[in-house]
Amino acid sequence: MDVYIRIEHALEAALRPTTSTAPPRLGQAIRQAVFPGGARFRPRLSLAVARACGDAHPELARAAAVAVELLHCASLVYDDLPCFDDAPLRRGQPTVHVTFGEEVAILAGNALIVRAFELLGEQVTQTPLHTGLVLATLARGVGSPHGIAAGQAWESEPRIDLRAYHRAKTGALFEAAVIAGAVAGGGDARAWRGLGDLLGEAYQVADDLRDAHGESHRLGKPVGQDAAHGRPSAVGLLGADGALRRLHRLLADAIERVPSCPGRSDLVLLIERWADTLVPREPVEAPRIASAS
Ligand code: IPE
Ligand code: IPE
Ligand code: MG
Ligand code: MG
Repeated sequence: MDVYIRIEHALEAALRPTTSTAPPRLGQAIRQAVFPGGARFRPRLSLAVARACGDAHPELARAAAVAVELLHCASLVYDDLPCFDDAPLRRGQPTVHVTFGEEVAILAGNALIVRAFELLGEQVTQTPLHTGLVLATLARGVGSPHGIAAGQAWESEPRIDLRAYHRAKTGALFEAAVIAGAVAGGGDARAWRGLGDLLGEAYQVADDLRDAHGESHRLGKPVGQDAAHGRPSAVGLLGADGALRRLHRLLADAIERVPSCPGRSDLVLLIERWADTLVPREPVEAPRIASAS
């Protein structure tokens, strides 16, 4: 079965106990946060690393991949709230707070985070040591000072270092996805450090380019948000050309960083294919007039 479909099935199974007897609007909000999916980039990366390392603990690898995606989906629910980016559209549909109100959206985000860690907790009896490492890894990727909470909090500071901001709000969960995959796959986590940071930073630079030069109907989310909200962005700081150069540099560094492992060549091929999709197809020199929609 295709890995994307396997991830969808695993997400469905993971959400069933959380939504089936929940207050109906909360259950629907949780589902809307997760389905339909976007790129599912982080869980695919995590599973690919586990496979490259030898897939020693496949159930833990699956639980980690699902948990990473649930944490990511929660972060999008919060990121779209009026107090953050105030976005009406996500993955081509109304954002969770637009459909269900802010109270239910916040609770749905909380429930997703709790479910992510609960899923990992369910693996403890099988593989206690590895599960403990994965739990700590994912917590680091979403908490403070390294993870998404810190990344989003930088937006409330008067001065922001772009790199620290990108690495915390996006790189940290990518790093967690890679390390969790390596641990679950039976690899040496230390050898995998830094790869996810680089990929995540590249991913955010590509997202900044799309925000400045992409089209909302293609992306399924608003564009021009970074300029509209005064967010530091790779395009704002480096210009489109500079951001593009940075994207190429980060992707090349990431590919070089893939450590020696049984499935290295397949993983490198996969990352190269993904890298290709992150580089804009159209020239990006001509600035698009930023708009809030
Ligand atoms: C959006 O992430 C937020 C960023 C960190 C850029 P994705 O672009 O992975 O969103 P989905 O999951 O595909 O919708
Ligand atoms: C959000 O970054 C990163 C998160 C941790 C949610 P953005 O605000 O650039 O993501 P989009 O463009 O809304 O997807
Ligand atoms: Mg946003
Ligand atoms: Mg963005």
